[in-house]
Amino acid sequence: MLAFHQVVKTEFEEVNQLIINQLHSDVGLVENIGQYIVDAGGKRLRPLLVLLASKACDYEGSQNRDLAAIIEFIHTATLLHDDVVDTSDLRRGRATANAKWGNAPSVLVGDFLYSRAFQMLVSIGSMPIMEIIADATNTISEGEVQQLINAGNPDTSEESYNEVIYKKTARLFEAASHAGAILADTTVQQQDQLRRYGYHLGMAFQLMDDVLDYRGNTEEMGKNIGDDLSEGKPTLPLIYVMKNGKNSDATLIQDAIKQCRTDRLAEIIDILTTSGALDYTTECARQHADKAADCLSLLPDSAYRQAMVDLAHFATSRNH
Ligand code: IPE
Ligand code: IPE
Ligand code: MG
Ligand code: MG
Ligand code: MG
Repeated sequence: MLAFHQVVKTEFEEVNQLIINQLHSDVGLVENIGQYIVDAGGKRLRPLLVLLASKACDYEGSQNRDLAAIIEFIHTATLLHDDVVDTSDLRRGRATANAKWGNAPSVLVGDFLYSRAFQMLVSIGSMPIMEIIADATNTISEGEVQQLINAGNPDTSEESYNEVIYKKTARLFEAASHAGAILADTTVQQQDQLRRYGYHLGMAFQLMDDVLDYRGNTEEMGKNIGDDLSEGKPTLPLIYVMKNGKNSDATLIQDAIKQCRTDRLAEIIDILTTSGALDYTTECARQHADKAADCLSLLPDSAYRQAMVDLAHFATSRNH
């Protein structure tokens, strides 16, 4: 458990229990795969965000636990699908579900988790929250498809990259904090500030994920480095070198993207490090994290608000 989980320790434990209970299925394989990925843990940042956002707005009910579990199920569903489309074989320090059971069961259990999330959402009974979650889930799929279109294309712009990371990742963070604020029935202004907090946090989070894909440590991250290049993904560190780097470096990276080649990964990591590309991407993430913290100005001072500030900084200093 990370330090900022402590302020919502009791609620967080209830969410973890709810996640386990709601994985139930009469079909053994569904439950096995669901439990396999959930047991591996993960940071649970999105459910944490739901709890913190709602509590920072003085919410005192219990539906924030349901909402938190719903968001984690949606996230977990995207991971099951993501590892299939990214042909990844390591997640949360274990073989991915696709590596262990194959693509078909992973996709189908991903669908089970999505639909379980929507079953639970019905029981919350809030049309505005339903709308936020439905729209976010729909946008994530679009973002993943846009990313697929950009794969192998070294001419992808920074703008297009930003649109993809917003849709595939930041949108769910945005939905988590926005829906948490709506649950608390706070002012429209505060709801909007919390939505923007989630947006900036999510952008910072994915920018760092894309840095860690080159700079990270497999042990700490629980996933392999170089996965992005092996899918020909033009992420920001690569875009930076193609725009600002030496011609020979830019050409090497263009070819690696076009051919999804990782045979010169060590050399590419060296270029990304010495050219300042990883620093540039980290700086972009820091700017988003600062903006996220600025969005909290209207909230009353509380341990929850402070934890949200800490969470924004964690997004850029993390190594997992
Ligand atoms: C991984 O998210 C997918 C991205 C959006 C980068 P996390 O890094 O939050 O994954 P877990 O849940 O902690 O494993
Ligand atoms: C995560 O992007 C986006 C979603 C899961 C929707 P990545 O593909 O970079 O995530 P990791 O690195 O595999 O966790
Ligand atoms: Mg992936
Ligand atoms: Mg992916
Ligand atoms: Mg990644």
